Amino acid sequence: RRERTFTAIKPDAVHRGLVGEIISIFERKGYKLVGLKLVLPDRKLAENHYSELRDKPFFPDLVDFISSGPVVAMCWEGKDVVRTARKLLGATNPLESEPGTIRGRYGIDIGRNVVHSSDAVTTAEREIQLWFTEHELVDWDPAV
Ligand code: CMP
Repeated sequence: RRERTFTAIKPDAVHRGLVGEIISIFERKGYKLVGLKLVLPDRKLAENHYSELRDKPFFPDLVDFISSGPVVAMCWEGKDVVRTARKLLGATNPLESEPGTIRGRYGIDIGRNVVHSSDAVTTAEREIQLWFTEHELVDWDPAV
């Protein structure tokens, strides 16, 4: 099914200069980029983004981290992109993320874990709406 997902390059990866590398992985996979911007999220946006995790003990640290520096917010479109993007990212726990995945290659910490991508189609719809305005999403076709 053709769908959209929300993917974010987290502040640790922006600091480490991994932005181009991560965008390339999604481009080469074949997904279509329909939204892209650099954001310094305030606490409100971070809390809203992770609102389902507000009762977790690590929630305050998670909000601090995501709002600690620039995030590259992206919207990618393509067949089964929500689940496939999660595969490209790899498992959240660094002990379980496979070496070929983004987290497996670049991450060693469960919290500072390089990237985020929506975990379900309904979550993706909510996160895309939260991070992007309608006119920031570009519906385009390849040039003829
Ligand atoms: P993400 O895919 O952005 O979605 C939820 C985030 O919570 C996750 O990546 C991790 O960064 C963070 N997270 C999940 N479990 C833990 C944990 N046990 N300790 C710290 N952070 C966590």
